[in-house]
Amino acid sequence: SDDDGAGEEYLFKIVIIGDSAVGKSNLLSRYARNEFNPHSKATIGVEFQTQSMGIDGKEVKAQIWDTAGQERFRAVTSAYYRGAVGALVVYDISRRTTFDSVSRWLDELKTHCDTTVARMLVGNKSDLETIRDVSVEDGKTLAEEEDLFFMETSALDSTNVKEAFELVIREIY
Ligand code: GTP
Ligand code: MG
Repeated sequence: SDDDGAGEEYLFKIVIIGDSAVGKSNLLSRYARNEFNPHSKATIGVEFQTQSMGIDGKEVKAQIWDTAGQERFRAVTSAYYRGAVGALVVYDISRRTTFDSVSRWLDELKTHCDTTVARMLVGNKSDLETIRDVSVEDGKTLAEEEDLFFMETSALDSTNVKEAFELVIREIY
């Protein structure tokens, strides 16, 4: 950045990971554009969005990367993780299998990023309370065991979406 101080800004890379259809792309579109797509298609390759927030009078920009949960649609893994300083590991509270996959996603994260990366466990689709398949307690317990932040979110009704991203961004800052 410029040396005059006035234009000082920060750019942080954050990655979103988790099984297919847990709502990664919709969490990002809800946060960055306040949009939700009930019929979104599986992501192919990598997409990213940049979103700014103010912290202590400084502009902090998060470049948030989103990729496919499905192996066959994923891009080169090492490039996806390169330079990331924050990560959201997402599961779907209405599908237990997506919660069971979290440990694999954490392993992949550990393989590609150093241990200082700010990590948040995200139980998405909290609006689907009637068909809940993972208790809040199970989410909290795993988060404590793995030393992660934890929130349940809903990209559909916006619950905790901004809060989850901004907690990670603040933690990095
Ligand atoms: P991949 O790109 O295949 O890895 O999937 P993804 O994790 O990006 O999931 P995506 O955002 O495409 O959402 C999958 C489906 O879940 C879509 O039909 C969304 O509309 C729906 N969905 C996403 N978030 C929520 C949510 O918070 N609540 C509910 N009820 N549905 C959601
Ligand atoms: Mg997607």
